[in-house]
Amino acid sequence: MSLKACIFDLDGVIVDTAKYHYLAWKKLTVMLNIHFNEKDNERLKGVSRMASLDIILEIGRVTLDEKKKDEYAAMKNEWYLDYIRRMTPDEILPGSLELISELKNAGIKVALGSASKNTPLILERLGIEKLFDAVADGNVVSKAKPDPEVFNEAAKMVGVAPEDCVVFEDALAGVEAALNAGMFCIGIGSEKILTDAHYVVSGLDKINLRKLRKIMK
Ligand code: G6P
Ligand code: MG
Repeated sequence: MSLKACIFDLDGVIVDTAKYHYLAWKKLTVMLNIHFNEKDNERLKGVSRMASLDIILEIGRVTLDEKKKDEYAAMKNEWYLDYIRRMTPDEILPGSLELISELKNAGIKVALGSASKNTPLILERLGIEKLFDAVADGNVVSKAKPDPEVFNEAAKMVGVAPEDCVVFEDALAGVEAALNAGMFCIGIGSEKILTDAHYVVSGLDKINLRKLRKIMK
């Protein structure tokens, strides 16, 4: 492969929104009388809003009809937005801007591949809405990770073949999605958890273009 594009997941890679998702889901679970803790929240990383609600209902052994589920998902999102609207650029995770600008200077395309329907608002709050060459998010794709749709769409948008793309992902479902797309995957987080990734670093501040090229050899 030749490195032509890098596709970044948003939540957990560029910014830590997991804590806000947790607080909003927690509010809902308190209301529904479901025991839900931070460990359970790990299962929701990279998973779409509705699939997250299904996991929570399964934890609480609660069954709801579709209408109620839509209502609760909307409620959770309103609480989540209360946090997101207050985000500032200093919440961009260390190393993100440095790596992205290094890649762009080297002529490598940078794209975003996220399940979140709130991607446009988050990028705006962080002041990076113009940073990426392409944005594939929950508003343009319908199949959730581990389906490769979101990464394939991002690759298509920047006009690069999947085998020439590298994905940066913090979630298990996201790593699987990258592999399903036939892309090289750098896991962001713990080696013990992201066992299928080609290589794992703790954050984007631990990698640069030279290191990336070495890993991919
Ligand atoms: C990301 C997060 C998930 C979240 C999903 C949908 O993948 O890691 O925790 O459920 O986006 O986010 P949304 O903002 O559309 O509710
Ligand atoms: Mg993520």
